[in-house]
Amino acid sequence: MKSEIIAIYPGSFDPLTNGHLDIIHRGARLFDRIVVAVLVNLEKAPLFTVPERVEILRDAFRERTNVEVDTFDGLLVDYARRRHASVIVRGLRAVSDFEFEMQMALMNRRLNGDVETVFMMPAEPYTYVSSRLVKEVVALGGSVHGLVPDSVEARLREKKLARETLRA
Ligand code: PNS
Repeated sequence: MKSEIIAIYPGSFDPLTNGHLDIIHRGARLFDRIVVAVLVNLEKAPLFTVPERVEILRDAFRERTNVEVDTFDGLLVDYARRRHASVIVRGLRAVSDFEFEMQMALMNRRLNGDVETVFMMPAEPYTYVSSRLVKEVVALGGSVHGLVPDSVEARLREKKLARETLRA
């Protein structure tokens, strides 16, 4: 019997963008199961907590039975081994992403040659969208409508209001 192909889609997802959503939907069509794995990185100062990011992702994919949301820390390839995953999915938006992504893919291959990195391109309208820019635009009062899920847009607005209230 053919075993199922499990893919891991790792990232910070701070916050989830429509570009991430697009890649996850593509991955869910290509692989038997895709595990969206939120990195627990204690060094960064995130806008959304890990539980908030997990909640947003679970909410976005509650109707897709082959999309799972999880968290991980430590080496990605160790996590992939624990989850019996043979694929790491990464989105590639532009040439500028390529250098770092290639370094990560080759390092991961060196660490575990059984896991293959697969790059996927998001739909054209999302090729310039990043979590970092989304946060910057919102912090400076701009609109990110259409670039992130509605639930994320609402939460970004709440965070901004909360910060402004604290400062006032
Ligand atoms: O969304 P991001 O921040 O671009 O995701 C980066 C991520 C989570 C894929 C990367 O930082 C990662 O894999 N971290 C886990 C630690 C690890 O395995 N490091 C060696 C990879 S070369």
